[in-house]
Amino acid sequence: MIKTKITEMLNIDHPIVQGGMHYVGFAEMAAAVSNAGGLGIITGLTQPTPDDLAKEIARCHEMTDKPFGVNLTFLPGFAAPDYPGYIKAIIEGGIKIVETAGRSPEAFMPPLKEAGIKVIHKCTSVRHALKAEKIGCDAASVDGFECGGHPGEDDIPNMILLPRAAEELKIPFIASGGMGNAQQLVAALAMGAEGINMGTRFIATKEAPVHQNVKDALVNASELDTTLIMRPLRNTERVLKNDAVNRILEKEKSLGDKIQIQDIFGEVAGVYPKIMQEGTMEAGAWSCGMVAGLIHDIPTCKELIEGIVSEAESIISSRLANLKSA
Ligand SMILES: Cc1cc2nc3c(=O)[nH]c(=O)nc-3n(C[C@H](O)[C@H](O)[C@H](O)COP(=O)(O)O)c2cc1C
Repeated sequence: MIKTKITEMLNIDHPIVQGGMHYVGFAEMAAAVSNAGGLGIITGLTQPTPDDLAKEIARCHEMTDKPFGVNLTFLPGFAAPDYPGYIKAIIEGGIKIVETAGRSPEAFMPPLKEAGIKVIHKCTSVRHALKAEKIGCDAASVDGFECGGHPGEDDIPNMILLPRAAEELKIPFIASGGMGNAQQLVAALAMGAEGINMGTRFIATKEAPVHQNVKDALVNASELDTTLIMRPLRNTERVLKNDAVNRILEKEKSLGDKIQIQDIFGEVAGVYPKIMQEGTMEAGAWSCGMVAGLIHDIPTCKELIEGIVSEAESIISSRLANLKSA
């Protein structure tokens, strides 16, 4: 067992969190991760209404007695979802851990804190993590440039970002982005993190409620197969390369600074159900991390989590300890 401030804070067995993922973070995913001793997270905004989120939380409670969380992503630009409604569903659903992402959760901290909820803010820079600390977040999930999804605009990989976070933060932090195996867990702990957050790696598990084509795509992809889109819109996203992504990149090149989200709407809006549920892999752009290069199998969440933890323990007690004695 590896015990850290994060396992203690979240009341979980292993320092491994499953980050919120659009059209992946359903009750089945969250329950599988939590039952395996990690922290599973339901993606709030994948549920079309707060009422649907309440039902998804209830479904997850039926599948696990262990703690699980809900992700609330504060989206830039698009019409604002009913955040107060989603927060009400979270509180009434007895959720005690929320992962926030996107913009600062400051406006929503009072109801979350009054309900005794631990808030983990996922952010891509030390300055945003410090802001999270200042407004009362309990932990930060520090998301490096390698990550699947939105790495921000600073492009700092975790080999620098994590030790920088360790220099500045007082609240515990989790290493997010590129994480997928035991060596990385040990490295993250060495760099000051109290655990790891995995997105992409959890999609390639038996229980992930996505089409087999998505899992196969991850096993077949290498670390060279992701790219960044929407940089000119300052909404950079790391995605798996495909034909839709090529079309986006061509439009970004030809339209330059004049590009607007409407120009790529067909490739990015409403595509997740087609990809994740129907397995139509060319339907649009979907978030995927460089860690795809380290994904070679489709284990159960229990096999994945327990495998990472037990190998990490042996790296610490054998390889690293032997270096010292040698
Ligand atoms: C398919 C997919 C969908 C994602 N959707 C969301 C989301 O809706 N909200 C969010 O905060 N993060 C989202 N993320 C980011 C993950 O929670 C996590 O921070 C990221 O995947 C970590 O990097 P990794 O993929 O290298 O593990 C998504 C990631 C993936 C791969």
